[in-house]
Amino acid sequence: MSAPLLGADGVGIGLRTPHCREILERRPALGFLEVHSENYFGDGGPALAWLERLRAHYPVSLHGVGLSLGSADPLDDRHLARLAALAARVEPMLVSEHLSWSSIGGHHANDLLPLPFTQEALDHVVARIGAAQDRLGRRILIENVSTYARLPGSTIPEAEFVAEAVRRSGCGLLLDVNNVFVNATNHGFDPHAYLAALDGASIGEMHLAGFERAPGLLVDTHAAPVADEVWSLYEAAVRRFGSRPTIVEWDADIPPLDTLLAEAARARKVSA
Ligand SMILES: [Fe+2]
Repeated sequence: MSAPLLGADGVGIGLRTPHCREILERRPALGFLEVHSENYFGDGGPALAWLERLRAHYPVSLHGVGLSLGSADPLDDRHLARLAALAARVEPMLVSEHLSWSSIGGHHANDLLPLPFTQEALDHVVARIGAAQDRLGRRILIENVSTYARLPGSTIPEAEFVAEAVRRSGCGLLLDVNNVFVNATNHGFDPHAYLAALDGASIGEMHLAGFERAPGLLVDTHAAPVADEVWSLYEAAVRRFGSRPTIVEWDADIPPLDTLLAEAARARKVSA
């Protein structure tokens, strides 16, 4: 396991532009900062300058949203080269991506789309994760995503698909606890049985975020506080697996920094 296990101190937040200056000035006690890799693919600019200043004070994890690991398109060498260059620059404690796809025929969607849970898709994504790890020269984590539909032909339960993708590719798992709860509600499975199907040793990080309720389903908006049910599931995950580096993600309707810090403090209490 190359990912450091930071224990109780390993609770951080997703870094968002409106908070950069305040974090640098106040230096709140955070285990690490997580950024979306693609926002820093340029050779310079203000975003990268902020990141480099903050990196002097905090470990950073690189969380990608654009590699499209599950796509049938060729793996994007240019994207991987830029990610490798960014990793060389910021020396992240973790590099992660999603178990999803977002491109078809060279066209990119701005979404993390679900894979069919089939043997064929599993073989495909395992090979792609392996190729990405080879190109980056490091182990990555892949994250379970939130979904609103099951693709036709799916024959493998989600947790089993995720666990097998991780086991066979030798990557680690970024367990998004909110995504487990959202999918359990949307697709009608037991979130605790999902946790039980995972290999705890493979989990290198956990995510917490907020969802919103829509008629008949939960929407993973990252625009709300972590729900009580997700806190309970996080407690169960920490009890089962032990504490892991954890961040609170908030991507829309971004609140004052203190709101995020309070969520992180609550996560720290759970994982202590
Ligand atoms: Fe997440």
